[in-house]
Amino acid sequence: MLKGDAELYRPKKKHVVLFGLIGLIGLAVMAGVVALGVFVVTAWFGLPVFGFSEGPDQPIAFPHTVHVNEVGLDCTFCHRTVTEEAPASIPAVGLCMTCHQAVGSGIEGVETLRDFAETGRALNWVRVHRVPDHVQFVHEAHIRAFSGSKKIVEALRDRETEIRLDEARRIDVDAAVGETIEVAGSQVCAICHGDVASMPKVKQVRPLKMADCVNCHRDNNAPTDCTTCHY
Ligand code: HEC
Ligand code: HEC
Ligand code: HEC
Ligand code: HEC
Ligand code: HEC
Repeated sequence: MLKGDAELYRPKKKHVVLFGLIGLIGLAVMAGVVALGVFVVTAWFGLPVFGFSEGPDQPIAFPHTVHVNEVGLDCTFCHRTVTEEAPASIPAVGLCMTCHQAVGSGIEGVETLRDFAETGRALNWVRVHRVPDHVQFVHEAHIRAFSGSKKIVEALRDRETEIRLDEARRIDVDAAVGETIEVAGSQVCAICHGDVASMPKVKQVRPLKMADCVNCHRDNNAPTDCTTCHY
């Protein structure tokens, strides 16, 4: 071949490997950026990128519907610490057995429950809501803040006597500005957890991520400094 002849560029073998590598790294960086974007959107704003999922399957299909609507139990009958402490708490098998020693023979879920009670095994309910370890959440403060006799308002001035329309609507869809409502402790749950009483299986219905928490704090004259929620 003469000098100067046009020659097709033939990459050397080690160049092929090198370009391949650069391509792969590029893809990895792209994927990283996308993942970070999704993380920021979900973590800070709580916008579920793929929508709120179904609640998780539980070791026993425990229906809130039956226990709240049909049996007529109050939320605080089972979630005993919710008005006094940080956690709401999930009842132990023993509490269920005060009824199910006698009630529900032959129903699959109840028979499984009795198995757990007899063998003394703990029921490991799968958590539906959970904030990360660096965040503190206190149920008691929220139940106290939103329960009582409240006048429904557009914008809040006095939290003792008023509730915003936004929160009131989550308790009762027909709530209207100007009305006064009596909010019981167990009705406050709906502001964050939705209508659990009509969920055969509990699922999360509100982001409860940082932006959601902070926006509600701002709208309700609650503290928004970092140390309120972060250790
Ligand atoms: C008979 C007892 C009982 C009553 C009454 C009851 N619960 Fe529950 N609740 C449970 C049990 C057991 C679980 C755990 C299993 C599950 O998630 O379904 C639970 C789970 C929950 C969860 C999900 C907790 C998590 O993992 O994040 C919420 C929220 C909740 N209950 C709210 C309520 C509200 C609101 C009421 C009243 C309308 C209520 N519960 C009444 C027993 C009860
Ligand atoms: C105050 C009494 C009472 C308590 C406490 C109670 N239950 Fe029940 N439960 C009932 C009654 C009543 C029924 C309906 C039984 C029937 O349909 O014959 C029922 C039904 C059930 C069923 C069957 C639902 C269905 O139709 O498939 C399951 C599962 C169950 N309970 C689990 C639990 C668990 C778990 C707990 C504790 C967290 C609990 N129960 C606490 C009264 C109670
Ligand atoms: C201001 C919003 C808000 C309100 C109001 C609220 N919760 Fe919760 N709930 C949460 C958050 C956030 C978590 C997750 C907390 C965590 O991971 O420590 C949670 C967790 C739970 C859990 C599971 C963990 C635990 O604390 O035992 C139960 C059960 C529960 N809530 C029941 C209730 C009940 C019952 C009420 C009403 C009496 C209620 N919640 C009111 C936001 C709320
Ligand atoms: C529906 C509105 C609302 C939402 C949502 C909400 N909060 Fe609150 N929060 C309040 C109000 C109102 C208070 C009461 C402030 C007071 O007592 O001065 C409060 C109080 C608190 C307190 C102070 C408890 C204390 O020491 O007195 C903490 C901590 C807290 N919230 C954390 C959170 C976190 C974390 C989230 C999100 C997972 C959250 N909150 C979501 C309205 C809300
Ligand atoms: C009203 C409660 C609340 C306040 C006030 C608050 N945060 Fe958060 N923050 C949260 C919650 C809840 C999460 C966890 C979100 C999740 O589930 O991933 C969080 C997460 C974070 C994270 C972790 C990164 C992430 O996206 O998950 C950082 C960093 C953070 N907060 C910084 C701050 C700073 C700085 C301030 C003060 C300017 C602040 N927060 C005030 C509730 C709060």
